[in-house]
Amino acid sequence: MALADFLQELDELAAAAQAAFEGAKDAAEVEAARIAFLGAKSGKLKAAQKGLGSVDKADRRTAGMRFNEVKQLVEAAFKSAEERIAGGGGGTTQSAEIFDPTLPGKQPRIGKLHPITQTIEELKDIMGRLGFSVADGPEIEDELHNFESLNIPADHPARDPLENFYLATAAKSQGGPLLLRSQTSTVQIRVMEQTPPPIRIISLGRVYRPDTADATHYPMFHQMEGLLVDTKVTMADLKSVLRLFATSYLGHDVHIRFRPSFFPFTEPSVEADMSWNDNWIEFGGAGMVDPHVLSAVGYDLEEVTGFAFGLGVERLCMRRHGITDIREFYKNDVRFLHQF
Ligand code: DAH
Repeated sequence: MALADFLQELDELAAAAQAAFEGAKDAAEVEAARIAFLGAKSGKLKAAQKGLGSVDKADRRTAGMRFNEVKQLVEAAFKSAEERIAGGGGGTTQSAEIFDPTLPGKQPRIGKLHPITQTIEELKDIMGRLGFSVADGPEIEDELHNFESLNIPADHPARDPLENFYLATAAKSQGGPLLLRSQTSTVQIRVMEQTPPPIRIISLGRVYRPDTADATHYPMFHQMEGLLVDTKVTMADLKSVLRLFATSYLGHDVHIRFRPSFFPFTEPSVEADMSWNDNWIEFGGAGMVDPHVLSAVGYDLEEVTGFAFGLGVERLCMRRHGITDIREFYKNDVRFLHQF
C-alpha cells in the first residue's frame, strides 16, 4: 500500500473515532465506540495495524510513527468520553447516574416509643426520684395474689367470672384457677411475701378486664401501683407523695383532693383527684394498707403501717395530650402514634 493512502486512512479513522467518542451520550454508547475503534479483535485500529504490514518497507517507519500517534489520540478520546459520562459533566445524558449534592437528603424513618411506653418511662423517672424502685409481677395470676391476699373474699363481686379473664385450660391446674390479673395490686403481695419492711416500690404493667371497648374502656390497660410500708407511715405521707407526683407530672404546683371510698385492701380508702384546668379529675385509688393484708404476708402490725395507690396510665397520658379515645392507643396507626 502506498504511504499516502495509508496516512489518509489513518486520518479518516482518527476523525471518525473523535466524532464517535465525543457524540456518545451514555456509557453504552461509549462502550460501543470503544469496541468499534479499540476492540482487540475487530476494532478499526487493529485493522489499520494489519494494513501497516502492506506499506512499502522504506515508508514503514513513517507509517508506524503516525499509526502510534493516531492510536494515542483515539485512546485519549475514549478516556475523556468515559470521564465525561462518569462525572455527569455533559449534563445531557439521562441514563447516566447523576449525583447532585445540593438536593435534600432522603430522611430515614426513625421509630419511636409508643406513647404509653413513654408515659411509663416518665412515671418511673418521677417515682424513682421519690425513692421508689420498680417491681415486676406476672400477668397470669392465681386467685391468692389477685384476690385472697388482697382481702377480696370469694363472694366479692370483683371475683365474678364475668368480671375477669379466667383461663379455661388452667382451671384444672393444681394450684387452683388462673386468670389474667385485673389489677397491679397483685405485685404488692408478691413483693411483701419476698421482702421484709421497709418497702417502697412501684409496679407498672398491663391489667385485663372483660369490658366492652369504648372511648374510655379497653379490655387491657396499664396501671401504676405504689406501695410504701415503714414505721409511722400516715395518710399525710400518702398525700404528699401523690401531690409531688402530680406536680412533677404536670410541671406545676397541683392540688390534691381525697374523697372517701372503699377498696378491700385499704382502710381508710380514698379516691384521689387532682386539679386540672379548674376541674377536679380523678386519677386513682389509694389508702392505708389494710391490716388484714399486712398480716397475710406476716408483717408485724405493731411495727409497720403503709399506704398504697393505683393509677391508670392511659388516663394520665390521655389527659396530658388531650386524647379523647383510649382505642387510639391500640389501633397501631402510625399517623396517630408518630405525634408523640
Ligand atoms: N387496684 C385498684 C383498681 O384496680 C386500684 C387501687 C386502689 C390500688 C387503691 C391501690 C389502692 O393500691 O390502694 O381499681
